Amino acid sequence: MLSWEDSVPANTFKPAAALAAVPVADLFERSAPVSPAQAVASDASRLHNATQIARDTRRVRVEDKRIINGSADVNQLVPFKYKWAWEKYLAGCANHWMPQEINMERDIALWKNPNGLSDDERRLIKRNLGFFVTADSLAANNIVLGTYRHISAPECRQFLLRQAFEEAIHTHAYQYIVESLGLDEGEVFNAYHEVKSIRDKDEFLIPFIDTLTNPDFVTGTPENDQKLLRSLIVFACLMEGLFFYVGFVQILALGRQNKMIGAAEQYQYILRDESMHCNFGIDLINTIKLENPHLWTPAFREEIVGLFHQAVELEYRYAEDTMPRGVLGLNASVFKEYLRFIANRRAQQIGLDPLFPGAENPFPWMSEMLDLKKEQNFFERRVTEYQTGGALSWD
Ligand SMILES: [Fe+2]
Ligand SMILES: [Fe+2]
Repeated sequence: MLSWEDSVPANTFKPAAALAAVPVADLFERSAPVSPAQAVASDASRLHNATQIARDTRRVRVEDKRIINGSADVNQLVPFKYKWAWEKYLAGCANHWMPQEINMERDIALWKNPNGLSDDERRLIKRNLGFFVTADSLAANNIVLGTYRHISAPECRQFLLRQAFEEAIHTHAYQYIVESLGLDEGEVFNAYHEVKSIRDKDEFLIPFIDTLTNPDFVTGTPENDQKLLRSLIVFACLMEGLFFYVGFVQILALGRQNKMIGAAEQYQYILRDESMHCNFGIDLINTIKLENPHLWTPAFREEIVGLFHQAVELEYRYAEDTMPRGVLGLNASVFKEYLRFIANRRAQQIGLDPLFPGAENPFPWMSEMLDLKKEQNFFERRVTEYQTGGALSWD
C-alpha cells in the first residue's frame, strides 16, 4: 500500500537510474541561462505541432528528456526516463473510485435529526465543504490550464492527466455530499468569496496559479523557471500538502466517532489521492532541482520558507474559524502543532530545514487512514478490493 510516508525525503533524494545516465556536462549545458528568443523557440519545440513532427524524425533518446524545457517529442511516452511518474500514474488508476458508489443514507439521517449533531459540528462540516467545493476546481484548472503545458516529460504529463480527472472526482464528491445533505448550495459554493478564512487561503494561492495559466508565460529563462518552480512548490507542498489537512482531519475525526461515515469514507479516498498528488509534486520539484541546480539559490529558498510560514498561519486561522470553541476533542491549538509537523515534513521533502524543530504529530491515526485495508472495520461499509476495471466491491 502506498503511503505519503513512502516519499523519498529530499535530503536523501537520488536520481533515477535513467537520469544518472545523463552526462553531468550535459545537465550543466542544459541549465545555462537562455535568451528569451531561445525560450520561445524551446517552448514552441515542445508543443510539437504537426509540421515539426513531420520534420523531426529522430528517435527519442532518454538523455534528451527533461522535466522542463525539454527538446524530446512530448508525444512519445517511451523510452521511460521518469519511471516514478509512470508508477504513480498506474497506482492512481488502480485506486480508481467514484463518489456515487458510497452510501450516504446514514449521513442524511444524522444531518436531518435535530439532535444528531451539535451546532459546532454542523458549522465545521459546512465550513469544511465551503473550502473544498471550490479548492479542487482550482487544482484542476491549475493543472489543465497551467502546469501541464510547462512540463515537457510525457511520463509526468500522463500522471497530470490522471490527476486532473481525480480532481474532477473530488469536486464531484464534495458536490455529492452537499446535495445528499440538502445543504444550501449557494452558501457552500460561495464560501470562498464570503468566508474570510477560506477567501484568504484562496487569495494566497491564486497569484501562483495565475502565473502558470497566463498564456504569455513561457519557461526557458532562470527567472521564469524559478516562477514555475515556486508555483509548483506552492501547489504541491502548501495547497495539496498543507491546506487540505485540517479539513481531512476534521471529517475523518467525525468518522472515527461514527458520524458522517459516508462523507468520511469519501474523504479517506480523497486523502489517499491527494497524498499521491503531493508525492508526485515533490518528486517533480526535486527532479527539476536536480536538472536545474542554478534555480535553487539561497534567496529563492528563503522566499519559499517565507511562503511556508504564511501558509501555516492561514491554515491555522482557518482551523480557528472552523472550530471556534473546540469540537470532537479537537481544537485549534492542537492543529497548530499538526500544521507545524506537516510543514516540517514538506520542507524536508524538498530539501529545506525543518521550520519548527521538534513539532510532533498529534494525529498519528491519520497515516493509518491512508491504508484502507488496515482500517477494514473502521467504517461500516468498507472496500475489500480495488479492481483495475474501476468498480469497487463491498462486503
Ligand atoms: Fe483533489
Ligand atoms: Fe490533488
